[in-house]
Amino acid sequence: MKRILITGGAGFLGSHLSDRLLAQGYEVLCVDNYFTGSKNNIAHLLNHRQFELIRHDVTFPLYVEVDEIYNLACPASPVHYQRDPVQTTKTSVHGAINMLGLAKRVNAKILQASTSEIYGDPEVHPQPETYWGKVNAVGIRSCYDEGKRCAETLFFDYWRQHKLRIKVVRIFNTYGPRMHPNDGRVVSNFIVQALRGQDITIYGDGSQTRSFCYVDDLLEAMVRAMNTGDDFTGPVNIGNPDEFSMLELANLVLRLTGSQSRISFKPLPADDPKQRQPDISLAKTALGWEPTVTLEEGLKETISYFRKLVS
Ligand SMILES: NC(=O)c1ccc[n+]([C@@H]2O[C@H](COP(=O)([O-])OP(=O)(O)OC[C@H]3O[C@@H](n4cnc5c(N)ncnc54)[C@H](O)[C@@H]3O)[C@@H](O)[C@H]2O)c1
Repeated sequence: MKRILITGGAGFLGSHLSDRLLAQGYEVLCVDNYFTGSKNNIAHLLNHRQFELIRHDVTFPLYVEVDEIYNLACPASPVHYQRDPVQTTKTSVHGAINMLGLAKRVNAKILQASTSEIYGDPEVHPQPETYWGKVNAVGIRSCYDEGKRCAETLFFDYWRQHKLRIKVVRIFNTYGPRMHPNDGRVVSNFIVQALRGQDITIYGDGSQTRSFCYVDDLLEAMVRAMNTGDDFTGPVNIGNPDEFSMLELANLVLRLTGSQSRISFKPLPADDPKQRQPDISLAKTALGWEPTVTLEEGLKETISYFRKLVS
């Protein structure tokens, strides 16, 4: 039976991925240092015979026997990754080196959870994988953006130099149950504010757009990417190309929660991209994948999770 390592397995995406791979009958080894993840996310798995949990920081080497590695460890929201920016870069870069080293030692296939932040504040819209991006090397988001860029470089150098089997997926905004309530990401922010009856905060005038992918759609693509033939490395964009302005999202959240909250506007933070939308042509052809969950359906699931948490 295949044994699969998930780094960052107690986080938002990692915990759902654990559920999914266990349901498919695999053994899952979850590694996390709980920087942003929580045991609550995986509490329901602790007695599962095929689930194992290790507290470990990926900036240090790890010696385990596995067949596949999903490298998800890294704080993903600006609030968290800017809290200790040096650690963020270390997690991406040293973490990638350690996990690639492990993959090489045990001949495992390895997938990197990269990000649309690779594209920075893009001049090309929507962004195809061939676009190299417009990234600030010295800004407050750079620890994350440049860390993830360097991790991609390492993945491709291990592939070229050591013939490692790699898969790089570039994830665009993803949302769903088990997101952190206070991590400043727009979907969780809006929902929590609406459920608490607080003002919904929009940074800028609300015209900046984002695309939002529901977690189930995202994981379907991630697992398909892992299962592609050895000649497919990516990078491949995964996300939902449907674009919504912040104002549209706020109004949808207000409608679905039935909240009486008002919308308030604040200045845009530095380096905030004005527009980001995935070009998923490659995912469609290489993975036979496209998202199926509408924003309204996904928000309903997410709102019902946050209702239990916030009440
Ligand atoms: N959710 C998104 O919209 C999104 C978008 C783009 C990329 N990603 C990437 O997907 C991955 C998972 O994101 P998420 O949304 O689940 O975030 P998350 O913060 O919920 O999960 C990250 C997990 O990594 C763990 N972690 C952090 N540093 C670690 C370290 N040094 N050693 C071991 N574990 C460590 C955290 O404790 C947490 O459990 C991240 O790599 C992120 O960059 C996510």
